[in-house]
Amino acid sequence: MLKVDQVHTYYGNSHILQGLSFEVPTGKCVALLGRNGAGKTTTIHSIAGLTPPRRGNITYMGKLISGLAPNKIARAGIGLVPQGRRIFPSLTIRENLIVPARDRKQTGTGDKSWRLEDIYDLFPILKERENNMGTQLSGGQQQMLAIGRALMTNPQFILMDEPSEGLAPVIIEQVGDIIRKLKQTGLSILLVEQNFYLACGVADTVLVMSKGQIVWQGTPEELLINEEIQHQYLGV
Ligand SMILES: Nc1ncnc2c1ncn2[C@@H]1O[C@H](COP(=O)(O)OP(=O)(O)OP(=O)(O)O)[C@@H](O)[C@H]1O
Ligand SMILES: [Mg+2]
Repeated sequence: MLKVDQVHTYYGNSHILQGLSFEVPTGKCVALLGRNGAGKTTTIHSIAGLTPPRRGNITYMGKLISGLAPNKIARAGIGLVPQGRRIFPSLTIRENLIVPARDRKQTGTGDKSWRLEDIYDLFPILKERENNMGTQLSGGQQQMLAIGRALMTNPQFILMDEPSEGLAPVIIEQVGDIIRKLKQTGLSILLVEQNFYLACGVADTVLVMSKGQIVWQGTPEELLINEEIQHQYLGV
């Protein structure tokens, strides 16, 4: 569904992604793991068009998307849950959800069409607090809002950048449950994480990244028994 092929991305003269290649098959969850500064967010931003690759191709459902503007990429059906949530602080929860909403006709086919009520069914706390400002939420609630906001664009594919960052263990478990539920709706997911256990608990395939390249790829089961990779690249 998504194919990243020999991608090179720079910030000015800094060569960050150095020939990055991987694929995310339809309906699967692929986790991308790596230490601070490995290039995970740069990968997400390269796909979303926020930091376009200088070389290499990114194709989505057979169409070349690298080089398109971010709004065109979003409209093709790719949703983004950014690192740090990026909730609009001066808007209420309800407004945060409604602002990006886009109906299914524009995005094409998907297994599920998300409306405000569906988001509230998935996250009842957001319904209870719908008139609170974005800043009045806990970290976990902000994360749910960030996920809900991405779902309101009715994506078929979702990019999630470290959704567990800064959250308590019990909330991280809830994030894992949500990701599993989203997969059941037919969504394809690229999950960037530093939380090894969350990633292994939800992913079909795990990619390990270092210095802008994929250095290991396998199943969660294979990674869980590979202490060498865990130590060398993940600091587990
Ligand atoms: N806007 C920028 N300008 C210049 N260099 C940048 C910029 N953003 C990131 N970098 C550098 O690019 C490299 C990769 O950063 P990136 O944010 O992709 O890492 P990451 O894997 O997401 O890390 P983290 O887990 O801390 O979020 C780092 O060396 C970082 O310092
Ligand atoms: Mg990052």
